Formats: sequence, structure tokens, C-alpha cells
Amino acid sequence: MSAAGAAGAYIWLNRGGDLHRTFRSVRRDVAAIRERDPAAASLLETLTCYSGLHAIMLHRMAHFLYQQKLPVAPRLVSQFNRFLTGIEIHPAATIGEGFFIDHGAGVVIGETTEVGDNVTLYQGVTLGGTGKETGKRHPTLEDGVTVGAGAKVLGAVVIGENAKVGAGSIVIHDVPADSTVVGNPGRPVRERGRKVGAADIDWTHLPDPVADAMESLVRRVVELENEFKDAFPEKREEIEKAQVEGERVIEKVFDYYHGQEK
Ligand SMILES: CC(C)(COP(=O)(O)OP(=O)(O)OC[C@H]1O[C@@H](n2cnc3c(N)ncnc32)[C@H](O)[C@@H]1OP(=O)(O)O)[C@@H](O)C(=O)NCCC(=O)NCCS
Repeated sequence: MSAAGAAGAYIWLNRGGDLHRTFRSVRRDVAAIRERDPAAASLLETLTCYSGLHAIMLHRMAHFLYQQKLPVAPRLVSQFNRFLTGIEIHPAATIGEGFFIDHGAGVVIGETTEVGDNVTLYQGVTLGGTGKETGKRHPTLEDGVTVGAGAKVLGAVVIGENAKVGAGSIVIHDVPADSTVVGNPGRPVRERGRKVGAADIDWTHLPDPVADAMESLVRRVVELENEFKDAFPEKREEIEKAQVEGERVIEKVFDYYHGQEK
């Protein structure tokens, strides 16, 4: 094919920008492996030894053909992908950039799945339907989600940004952003970055009933002393002297109790 023919074919294929987006996504997928897997020693090793990368490259091709509304061909590429990598991704599934399937094998991604950017899946993950729904029936994974080995995320649930699904979990409900779910059925162990079940205590300002009782006693004594000063004017000087000395001692005690705050 001449250069002009090749350029023409590229322009025609890229008429909706799909081809350009596909190439950009593949570049980001390669970079994601090198960022997220310390075992990825070189570019050559990444390109040749990661079946997760081969799977997403073939999926991007199948998805491109699907976008061109070609019959059968997208499914054929998807089946070839499954044969080669053990990973089955429906050509219609939309997958963002920087996608990484670590260790590959046994991953299934259904037709109406939507995956954001920088998502990581481990081996054996299913993003599937419950079998009861029609239309949108597969999960939506927002940016930065990680799904552990063997986990099953079922139905049109939304896994929020940067959420984690523990290895072996079965998730059938939405998961909020920055949360972690584990087990079957998936239960949250971390919600919006905080450990679930941990008491929300401000350890530096704990209530101190002894200090509170002392404070109220001192207040009461000062009130009595003031009443005394009025009742016995001849003792006023003596009482005031004792009050100054008492205040000095009490302040020291409260400084100790309140961590030097008073
Ligand atoms: C869930 C996970 C992300 C850890 O998240 P985390 O917020 O740091 O959770 P923690 O380690 O603090 O554990 C919190 C609780 O969940 C439990 N837990 C953690 N992972 C779990 C899992 N996969 N299944 C069931 N329970 C799990 C812990 O035992 C702990 O329980 P406890 O509070 O009763 O003691 C991690 O355990 C995991 O499963 N990662 C997937 C990694 C993977 O698939 N690797 C494959 C490499 S080949």
C-alpha cells in the first residue's frame, strides 16, 4: 500500500477519533504495568510477558471493531483473546486508560461493564451480571479501583473511586469511594478512608471527671472566700493573700491536668 493509501486508511479509520484513542490507551496500559508492578523489569519484558497486557490490547482492538459496528469480527477477536490469555472481555465493555490485569487468567468482564482510568484487577476476577437483570447489568468501576484475586462483582453496582475489593469477596451492592469491602457478602472494613468499627475518639481531649470535680470545688471555695471578705472586712487582707497563693498552686495543678493548655 502506498503512503498516501495508508494515510487515507488511517484518516478513514480514525474518523471519530476512535483509533487515536485506542493507541493512546494502549500506551497508558503499558505505562500502568511499569508503574504498578515492581516485577516489570523492562519494556521488552512488559510487552512480551504480561498476558494481562495482551488481553487489554486485543480488547482495545475488539472494542474498536465493535465501535465500527462490524458484525462477528469483534466477538472473534474477543474469543481469540480468551484462547490466548484466559481472559474474556466482551467487546462492548468500555475500559479506561491505565488498565492492568495482574497475573491474568480467569478474568471475565461482561458486556455492559464500565471501567474508569487506572483500575487494577487480579486473576480470577468476574465483573458479571446476577443473571436476573437486562440492559445495564454489569458493574461500573470508577477511577483507581482495585479488585483482589478471585473477587466477584455482580450486577449493575457502582464501585466508587479508589475503592478496594478484597481477594475472594462477592460484591452485590454499591461500594462508596475510598472504601474497602471484604468477604461474602462484601462487608465494608474501611469507609471513606476510615477503619469501620474503630471508635471515633479524640485521644488528646478525653473527658476528665476528676479534673472537672476539682474545678467546680475550687470555684465554690473562691465564692465562699469572697462572701467571707464581705462579712469580715478585718480579715480581707489575710484572705486575699491566701487567695493569691492558692491560685498559684491550683493553676499548676490544672496546667498538669490540661497538658499545659491553661
Ligand atoms: C482487602 C485488602 C485490600 C486490605 O485492605 P485493608 O483496608 O488494608 O484491610 P486490613 O488489612 O486492615 O483488614 C481489615 C479487615 O479485613 C479482613 N480482610 C482483609 N482482606 C480480606 C479478604 N480478602 N477477605 C476477608 N477478609 C479480609 C482482615 O482480616 C481484617 O479483619 P479484622 O478487622 O476482623 O481483623 C487486602 O487484604 C486484599 O484482599 N487485597 C487483594 C490483594 C490480591 O488480590 N492480591 C493477589 C496477588 S496475586
